[in-house]
Order: sequence, then structure tokens, then C-alpha cells
Amino acid sequence: MNIIFYHPTFDAKPWIDGITKRLPQANVRVWNANDHEPADYALVWRPPYAMLAPRTMLKGIFALGAGVDAILTQEQRQPGTLPAGVPLLRLEDTGMALQMQEYALASVLRYFRRMDEYQLFQQQKQWRPLAPHSRSEFTIGILGAGVLGSSVAQALVDMQFTVRSWSRSAKSQEGVQSFYGDDQLSAFASGCKVLINLLPNTPHTAGILNHQLFTNLSHNAYLINLGRGGHLVEGDLLRALDSGQLAAATLDVFVEEPLPGMHPFWSHPRVSITPHVAADTLPEEAMDSIVSNILAIEAGREPKGRVDLGRGY
Ligand SMILES: NC(=O)c1ccc[n+]([C@@H]2O[C@H](COP(=O)([O-])OP(=O)(O)OC[C@H]3O[C@@H](n4cnc5c(N)ncnc54)[C@H](OP(=O)(O)O)[C@@H]3O)[C@@H](O)[C@H]2O)c1
Repeated sequence: MNIIFYHPTFDAKPWIDGITKRLPQANVRVWNANDHEPADYALVWRPPYAMLAPRTMLKGIFALGAGVDAILTQEQRQPGTLPAGVPLLRLEDTGMALQMQEYALASVLRYFRRMDEYQLFQQQKQWRPLAPHSRSEFTIGILGAGVLGSSVAQALVDMQFTVRSWSRSAKSQEGVQSFYGDDQLSAFASGCKVLINLLPNTPHTAGILNHQLFTNLSHNAYLINLGRGGHLVEGDLLRALDSGQLAAATLDVFVEEPLPGMHPFWSHPRVSITPHVAADTLPEEAMDSIVSNILAIEAGREPKGRVDLGRGY
């Protein structure tokens, strides 16, 4: 079995060693532009066109992340980047769900307990107790009820928050009110105090965090964007913060990453920024999952995390 690996930034060695340890029968190599030798599987992130285009005999392409929008955009720009008929598989959870729970809980509790405001008061040496928020006025809406969205919803339900989710299809998760489809988007958003985005970036969801959606939220609401930068209409966020429609925003993902030095988000007093770290790919967990998927394919079973190219996620 031959496996090729390509990632523009990861150190390849732990991946080559880790896959070899788990699959001793496999010959695992880093792909380079002169490599035209056969391969059965590819592990990739933002693969160059030349890597996969001629490889129609691959049995699976494993994306080294949960979101595959970057790979699908490449395919749109240069059709054939993903050879036709070869399954594209993404990482499902592999340690990301717990990281997302941590990040989302930390952000929600910071706003719920008004830590962001106390941080400002401290800078002004102000001793100023504020009335606490009440849970009954702190409904949390989560865009996306997939692997990560449902996991974050569970953590918030466990903290006794009122939680709603929005997805394409109806869900039944205990303690979470399910909304689905475009027709129910405004009802979902209506009255939410916190909006957490965990949608995949597709042509259907791009720009969904916009003025119209913000106006449906409760006044002085909080936005937490953990999906992709392309979900957010940045100008609409700045205007919503100015008007008081939104009280504050926590952003982990941006249209342009790294965020350019001149960007107004950097210095906005009510925007909190992290550098796309909400949930990292954890190599050991990712390799366990990829190898178990390779074994499933070899045994003729359906692998997990197959991307529906038509839906875009
Ligand atoms: N910031 C970070 O560090 C980081 C790390 C990992 C992932 N992410 C982002 O998180 C995203 C979600 O990951 P995941 O593993 O939870 O994905 P997932 O399991 O595929 O879940 C996606 C959810 O979005 C819903 N959805 C998709 N298109 C929709 C539409 N047009 N209308 C309504 N709902 C729609 C799906 O609805 P159905 O359930 O009905 O299909 C599903 O509930 C990734 O795509 C990635 O962009 C960010």
C-alpha cells in the first residue's frame, strides 16, 4: 500500500512515522512535484493541482482538517484538483469537539459573567459591580448542529443554558431546540443573546453573519465566530457594534488570515481575536481515525467523514 502526504505547513515527519507505525505494511512518503509514482491514498491540505489531478486510481483522499472549503474552492478554480470519483474524507471530531467546547464555553462565560466589562473597568481603576445577566435572558443559538455544533450545544446545556441550533435537517438533541432550513433561520435567531457559528463554509452559508441576521438577535447580543471568516460580512459587524445591536464579538477566523495589521478588528475595544486556534488538528487522534478509515475501505466498508461534494461539506 502506498500513501502520499502533503501539507504546506505541518512537519511531515511525525505523520510519516505515525502512519507507518499504525500501518507497517504501508509505504508512506512526502509528495513532491517530481513524484509520479503510484499511490493508493493521499493525506493532504491545500494540495497542488499536480499532486492529485492524474491520480484517478486513488482509493481515498484524506483532508487533514474538519472543514474542506479550501480544498473545494481549489477544485472550483482548477477543476480536476480532486480526481473524479475518488472519495474525499474529512476529520470528524478527532479531538476537535472537546477543544471547541472549551473555546465556546470560555467565550460564553466571559460574556455571561461580564468579565469583558470588568477587564475594561480594571484598566480604568473602576470598582463597579454590575447586575448579573440572567440565564432566562441569555438564550444561545448555534449555527450548525453537526459534529462540533452539537458537541458545543451539549456543553452549554450541561451548564444549564437555553440552547437552540440551526441546521439543514431537523435534529433531536435533548435540551436543544432544533430549527432547520432557510425558512426557520429568522425564528431561530429571534431573541438569541449569543450567536455561535459552527457552520461549514459553502456557497449557501457564505456571508450568513450579516446585518439581516444581526437585527433578529436580541439587542446587545454577542457573536462568536468559530466557523470560517467567509461567513461574516465584516462591515456589517462593525456597524452592528456601533449601533449597539451587538455588544461584542469573539472571532477566531477571518476572511484574510493572518489578519492584516491595518484591520480595524485589531484595535476595536469590543472585538476579541484569536488566530484560528479554536480547534486544532491533533495528529495522533487524526492518524487513528485516518488509519481506521483506510482499514474500512480496504475491508469494503463505508469510511467515516465522507464529504458530499454537491453539498460542499
Ligand atoms: N476555528 C477552528 O479552529 C475550526 C476547527 C474545526 C472546524 N471549524 C469549522 O467548523 C465547521 C463545522 O465542522 P463540523 O465537523 O461540525 O461539520 P459537520 O459535522 O459537517 O456539521 C455541519 C453542520 O452545518 C449544517 N449546515 C450546513 N450547511 C447548512 C445550510 N445551508 N443551512 C443550515 N445548516 C447547514 C449541517 O446541517 P445538517 O446536519 O442538517 O447536514 C450540520 O449540522 C467546519 O466546516 C469548519 O469550517 C473551525
